[in-house]
Amino acid sequence: MCGIVGYIGKRDAYPILIKGLKRLEYRGYDSAGVALISNNQELNVYKTKGRVSDLENFVIQKDISGNIGIAHTRWATHGEPCSLNAHPHFSSSEKLALIHNGIIENYAVLKEKLQSKGYLFKSSTDTEVLVQLIEYIKISNNLDLLTAVQLALGEVIGAYAIAVLEKDHPNEIIAARKSSPLVVGIGQDEFFLASDATPIVEYTDKVVYLEDEEIALIRRDMDLKVVNLNNVEMTPEIKSVKLNLGQLEKGGYPHFMLKEITEQPDCIHDCMRGRINVEGSNVVLSAVIDHKERLLNAKRFIIVACGTSWHAGLIGKHLIESFCRIPVEVEYASEFRYRDPVIDSSDVVIAISQSGETADTLAAIELAKSRGAFIYGICNAIGSSIPRATHTGSYIHVGPEIGVASTKAFTGQVTVLTMLALTLAREKHSISEEEFLRIVKELNKVPEKMKEVLKLNDKIAELSKIFTYAHNFIYLGRGYSYPVALEGALKLKEISYIHAEGYPAAEMKHGPIALVDAEMPVVVIATQNGLYEKVLSNIQEIKARKGKVIALVTQGDTFISKIADYCIELPETIECLDPLIATVPLQLFAYHIAVCKGMDVDQPRNLAKSVTVE
Ligand code: F6R
Repeated sequence: MCGIVGYIGKRDAYPILIKGLKRLEYRGYDSAGVALISNNQELNVYKTKGRVSDLENFVIQKDISGNIGIAHTRWATHGEPCSLNAHPHFSSSEKLALIHNGIIENYAVLKEKLQSKGYLFKSSTDTEVLVQLIEYIKISNNLDLLTAVQLALGEVIGAYAIAVLEKDHPNEIIAARKSSPLVVGIGQDEFFLASDATPIVEYTDKVVYLEDEEIALIRRDMDLKVVNLNNVEMTPEIKSVKLNLGQLEKGGYPHFMLKEITEQPDCIHDCMRGRINVEGSNVVLSAVIDHKERLLNAKRFIIVACGTSWHAGLIGKHLIESFCRIPVEVEYASEFRYRDPVIDSSDVVIAISQSGETADTLAAIELAKSRGAFIYGICNAIGSSIPRATHTGSYIHVGPEIGVASTKAFTGQVTVLTMLALTLAREKHSISEEEFLRIVKELNKVPEKMKEVLKLNDKIAELSKIFTYAHNFIYLGRGYSYPVALEGALKLKEISYIHAEGYPAAEMKHGPIALVDAEMPVVVIATQNGLYEKVLSNIQEIKARKGKVIALVTQGDTFISKIADYCIELPETIECLDPLIATVPLQLFAYHIAVCKGMDVDQPRNLAKSVTVE
């Protein structure tokens, strides 16, 4: 979703801002803009619809001088993507320029109030309302910018991360956040600002994550000052971030998505490193050690998440219920937060999120916390909002995920959920030692088995050519493989724009089978585990209706290869680890179909990487 970058220091701001915007391209956006206070003290705003490269073309021949500036990539919420609606937005006097992530929910009321005072608006955005409000408060009360921002934000309902420049004060940037992340990077006589740490890490590893309703006064000539809306000074906590720049580059791959799919064996290894011992006889999660009683005494687990992370949650339910015998509910965070759920201090909520910034998941956490539940986070982005809002948790440690379609984060989440279920089960004595050791031993083999699956890449690329022009797909699985079917279908639809649905295989005959004819490709996860025979019957039913079956089978399967149209053979593993193996070919399949269709794989239309608005 929208990206923010800011710079103040001795260097030219423009190249740093543009590079920063490119680092944030992965979040998804439709327009881009920059505001600079030039060497001759002009406040210049340049913005355009399209890519950051379009902005670069737009500013050729323009004055891009100055060593203070703010820049933005916008993902449209209020008003279509166009240069008028792009950020930065000027105030009426053109003395203030503002960029904003989030949504001002009461913008219509505020706009009416400002219009009655004679203010005119050029765009359809809620952001322009905010900059005009700040100016109105500033001028009518003769205040400095910081105080005007504090008062204006006090009137705002909604979510924001903002940065403001003032033409007459070329030595400062004012930035603030509520429910939308903002990070200040501290360099040597220079400061950086960004909506996540990725644009900052190549300049400094010292960062401050602003908290809700905090305002940063970033001045060239003094230390970072942070105050709250009531002007109480806060002590900024300086943290150190370590991000490998190579992880932010494509490293020779045509797309981040392919790179991230291919990285999975290493990611899963990193995720388990230090948690499973070399002999494979123990699994340790520090969060479980620290909060053993609270977790073991939970009457119920409630998993809240969105999208792909929600699919990982469905697998988590199977794992925790099977091994720990504790009931688990899996909820869409967006539904949970508005449902007045029955939840109390005997519940443990597991919040799963790659970005750690998903607005609905954050709101679900706050609701559960307010009812006394204990919150365990499973996140990837270190230092993001969700890990900071939870009581404890485990990072998945798969490195930055840049492709919009989530791949390695999903398998990382499932790996952490597996380790969590195993650790709790062992503590609770609800799993036999023999079974525990058998699973851990197999879990250790997952990275090698994923490597074997990745060798099927060329075969899957060939297969995808056959189906590039299909209009619909059905994905089927049962048990642990049902969430894999959902995830396979989601991957396909989000990057290839082909309509795809995932179902539990046995549900077919309750309706969806009506869709099956010779034109309908059906992907079936039919590995030799659990309900294999039943899935075999489901395949027969589809073949009887002339559907085209693409089956994921265990190596050496002789039955299904005779009836399915196409088979992808996967290395054998145990049932509860099937998702870690079977998801990978489905990611590759979706990827290659999207590439064949010429789609923008890493930044699919209408999607954002980190959904910071509800
Ligand atoms: C799909 C995808 C989304 C996210 C969802 C939640 O490929 O990436 O469905 O899984 O928006 O995001 P996080 O995990 O960041 O909370």
